[in-house]
Amino acid sequence: MITDKKKVYLKVWGCQMNESDSEIIRSILVQCGFAYISQEEGADIVLLNTCAVREGAVRRVRSYVHELRYRAKGRKLLIGILGCIPTHLKESLVDDKNLDIDFIAGPDSYRRLPSLIHEVQTKQKKASDLLLTKEENYEDIIPARNSGINAWVTIMRGCDNFCTYCVVPYTRGRERSKNPKAIIHEIYRATEKGFPQVTLLGQNVNSYKYSDWDFTRLLSEVSQIPKLRRLRFVAPHPKDFPQELLEVMQNHRNICRHIHLPLQAGNNRILKMMNRNYTQEQFLSLVQQMRSFFPTIVLTTDIIVGFPTETDEEFNDTFEAMKNIEFDSAFIFKYSQRQGTLAAKRYPDDVPQVKKTERIVKLNELQKNISTKKNQGHISEIHEIIIDAETTSKSKDHFQGRNEGNKIVIIPSGPYKKGQAVAVRITDASAHTLKGTVVSFET
Ligand code: 5AD
Ligand code: SF4
Repeated sequence: MITDKKKVYLKVWGCQMNESDSEIIRSILVQCGFAYISQEEGADIVLLNTCAVREGAVRRVRSYVHELRYRAKGRKLLIGILGCIPTHLKESLVDDKNLDIDFIAGPDSYRRLPSLIHEVQTKQKKASDLLLTKEENYEDIIPARNSGINAWVTIMRGCDNFCTYCVVPYTRGRERSKNPKAIIHEIYRATEKGFPQVTLLGQNVNSYKYSDWDFTRLLSEVSQIPKLRRLRFVAPHPKDFPQELLEVMQNHRNICRHIHLPLQAGNNRILKMMNRNYTQEQFLSLVQQMRSFFPTIVLTTDIIVGFPTETDEEFNDTFEAMKNIEFDSAFIFKYSQRQGTLAAKRYPDDVPQVKKTERIVKLNELQKNISTKKNQGHISEIHEIIIDAETTSKSKDHFQGRNEGNKIVIIPSGPYKKGQAVAVRITDASAHTLKGTVVSFET
């Protein structure tokens, strides 16, 4: 079919919130008469939904813009940068002579995208909208989801925690929660469309608050939606994790026994400088409480090494905490100084790169051993997995799925479909994947 609709390609970097926002962006643009295409080739407009959490992410976007212009070879192509880089770098981004872009829009400006594009086309000058509001939560917009297994459902936006290293409170603005009725409606729709799994999303998901609704109540209500097979949530802050939340998990078997609980550091002086509002001891006792409810719960985390002034001894506290807790897996990052944050204003970025590298290597090695050991502990267990890919990157003879703990499980191919649940006996395990054979499946 030949159409004169402008073709838009959207590329996404960063966290799950950006994935979820991209579905809102697509929905807004399609409603306004744009055509969405899934590859860069042939696009009239390329949108980059970006992340500013670490400097590396910003560098990658810059080089992608250069490559795009090179590939377009002088062809008319509008490039818009969306998400956290615009609200982090602000107008300096459109003024940057070394970055050939046409417009920028922050996370609360997506309703204005069609008019920003129109403005660029008619006025022949760069356009921007960086306003952050306490109200915008896109509650009335039905996300344009790709078909799949997991539906991301944003329940709150923004962050009021102001961890000193983090740009998010500045790039995404103040916390605001969506109406529970809108959330429940959205999840009904997703389950009716065949999504077996929903992940509730928020920068600080457990600080959800809407009149007399808190996160515990929301989770409990959502888990009772009939066709919802698996319910997850990311990312909770350890300081807001009441026992009632664990009780709700205990009472509803479709809530996955997997919690991503960012530790960030294992030393109390560093945690205080980070403004995390918990001590290492409090974090440990929360982990113990979780394990007393669910002895085999899967716990994952985020860690930052090389925060300003972190000494070898203090780093060692993080090492010991990780050794002691034994997370199933961990995302480990080198501290990246972000302009405008409290840490950047207060402290010099004084841990040398080589030290940061040394520390990250040490923790990755430790974690790899722990993950391998934990995964091998699953051998001969039976796990329910939901199939999410009919082949893996390595072999066409295999299917891949995820178990309740969100671990990847590889099985030999068979008469299964994407989205189907199968029972698998685990036969082999490495740090990142489990392997198994199917023992039964629903037809
Ligand atoms: N430097 C390094 N890592 C960071 N994170 C957030 N800000 C920074 C930063 N300035 C990490 C935290 C957070 C994860 C999403 O990104 O660990 O949990
Ligand atoms: Fe950033 Fe802390 Fe908010 Fe997470 S809780 S988004 S790390 S400020």
